[in-house]
Amino acid sequence: MKVLVIGGGAREHALCRSLSLDPDVTALHCAPGNAGIAEVAELHPVDAMDGAAVARLATELEARLVVVGPEAPLVAGVADAVRDAGIACFGPSAEAARLEGSKAFAKDVMAAASVPTGRSYVCTTPEEIDKALDAFGAPFVVKDDGLAAGKGVVVTDDLAAAREHALACGRVVIEEFLDGPEVSLFAITDGRTVLPLRPAQDFKRALDGDAGPNTGGMGAYSPLPWADPKLVDEVMETVLQPTVDELRRRGTPFSGLLYAGLAITGRGVRVIEFNARFGDPETQVVLARLRTPLAGVLLAAAEGRLADQPSLVWHDDAAVTVVVASHNYPGTPRAGDPIEGLADVVAQDAPDAYVLHAGTRLADDGSTVLSAGGRVLSVTATGKDLGQARERAYAAVDRIRLDGSQHRTDIARKAAEAEAEAEA
Ligand code: AMP
Ligand code: GLY
Repeated sequence: MKVLVIGGGAREHALCRSLSLDPDVTALHCAPGNAGIAEVAELHPVDAMDGAAVARLATELEARLVVVGPEAPLVAGVADAVRDAGIACFGPSAEAARLEGSKAFAKDVMAAASVPTGRSYVCTTPEEIDKALDAFGAPFVVKDDGLAAGKGVVVTDDLAAAREHALACGRVVIEEFLDGPEVSLFAITDGRTVLPLRPAQDFKRALDGDAGPNTGGMGAYSPLPWADPKLVDEVMETVLQPTVDELRRRGTPFSGLLYAGLAITGRGVRVIEFNARFGDPETQVVLARLRTPLAGVLLAAAEGRLADQPSLVWHDDAAVTVVVASHNYPGTPRAGDPIEGLADVVAQDAPDAYVLHAGTRLADDGSTVLSAGGRVLSVTATGKDLGQARERAYAAVDRIRLDGSQHRTDIARKAAEAEAEAEA
């Protein structure tokens, strides 16, 4: 089958890599893509936000399946435009993508479906904001209602900073602080049947030891040896299935990837957020472990046939991904620096470690790869356990040279140490 992927980050590179390894995929296209995706898919300079242009491209290419990666096009209705053109699309409608596009909407759905989440207030006036901040006390959790590319949430002990962020948001959700480790659990759904993937953990803060500002994610690993083996079943029952059922009940079924961001608190699992698409960088590690060919599963979801889909098959391997970000990320990242050593990773680490590109582009010489964004690439590695996957990932990171670049050195460290102790 011919497949078109929309987007151009490391998540889309991971999706394209898995799709390119699927024997059922006869042609792979991506718009707009990046320098790494160009190695596995044909790129098209089409604006991911332009639903009509995406639908036109899919029609011209005779695509059997379109996969929309990022949230912004989903919230803008790009999946609707593709479906209106009669082409199967993996990704929710604009209506259903509000689960990510509006935090207040997500809270409303969760309340209706009795999904466990933090108590919260939706505020629009300074009086409401002050009342909510006062009711919860520190640490304050203040969330812009709308999409903010990972920058809408402020968690702080500083009342003035919390208040300032809340006032700048317009419509804002103020929430109780949820303590405990975070887990990302993805599920593929056709609006009725829900197929959970394997849990992963993301590292959101810029610096080692979870210091520094929030980012889009600096690394991830899977599996989570410390997590309760019953976690996936519990989240299926209390979170994923009820949410999917509630959206269907409302007449706006959610089909695509439902991402549950969870806090494992002392009082049980709580939803921190929903996303309407594969997470980045968790996708890199989850797909590294998936054995079932990807295209058939995504097509079954897009065509409402997930109930007939056999169980997913997984590798026993662990996977770790480390994000290499440019100078100054997440502030104003510097772009245009040459990236060297990419071929060394391929030569020395393949197939256990590989580079997934995010913000990269080819220079005019047609061969030099340049940085072109905040998160530049992520190095993903697999191994028999987290310790080995970590070693391989960091060995590959060390081969890559990008002036001024930064990465965390502690991705999966604690989990790998705990796993090693348990094995000893
Ligand atoms: P979000 O954009 O909703 O994923 O929030 C970004 C990050 O802020 C999350 O990954 C958490 O680390 C943190 N966060 C969000 N909501 C809460 C909460 N209620 N309590 C504690 N931390 C939170
Ligand atoms: N890894 C966080 C996200 O994709 O939103």
